[in-house]
Amino acid sequence: MNPRIIEILNQARSAELGAISQYMIHHYELEDAGFSKLATKIKEVAIAEMKHAEKLAERILLLKGEATFKPDLIPQKGQDIAQILATDVGLEKKAIQMYNEAAVMCAAEKDAQSKDLFEELIAEEEEHLHLFENFKRHIDKMGAAYLATLIQK
Ligand SMILES: [Fe+2]
Ligand SMILES: [Fe+2]
Repeated sequence: MNPRIIEILNQARSAELGAISQYMIHHYELEDAGFSKLATKIKEVAIAEMKHAEKLAERILLLKGEATFKPDLIPQKGQDIAQILATDVGLEKKAIQMYNEAAVMCAAEKDAQSKDLFEELIAEEEEHLHLFENFKRHIDKMGAAYLATLIQK
């Protein structure tokens, strides 16, 4: 067991657990406010992050480590849509940067499987970032007219 690898896998798992709770809160709040379309998209991303947390735990257990259950953040509540998207863009950027550094570290420690896992996660986080940035850009540009399109599913 390489404790540095376990540590970085657990750091990633904590970030996933933090993102899951943040995205679920955003999903519930947006659904409650009637923005079903955006709420559904954020829920889908939350479910993708659950799968990431699961894959990280499986890798940690395979390496005989102990998987953390501690999120790395206290989720924000009561944000408006612009703040929600800024928060979520920030979480994806944080994950992409962390996982890129983790992949380099895993390669240096000669753990190709962990490196591959991080690269797989980076590809999906980049898709999430793209999705959130698109919503954010449309809202910044078109404001209320675009918000109206986020009401239906
Ligand atoms: Fe993730
Ligand atoms: Fe993500």
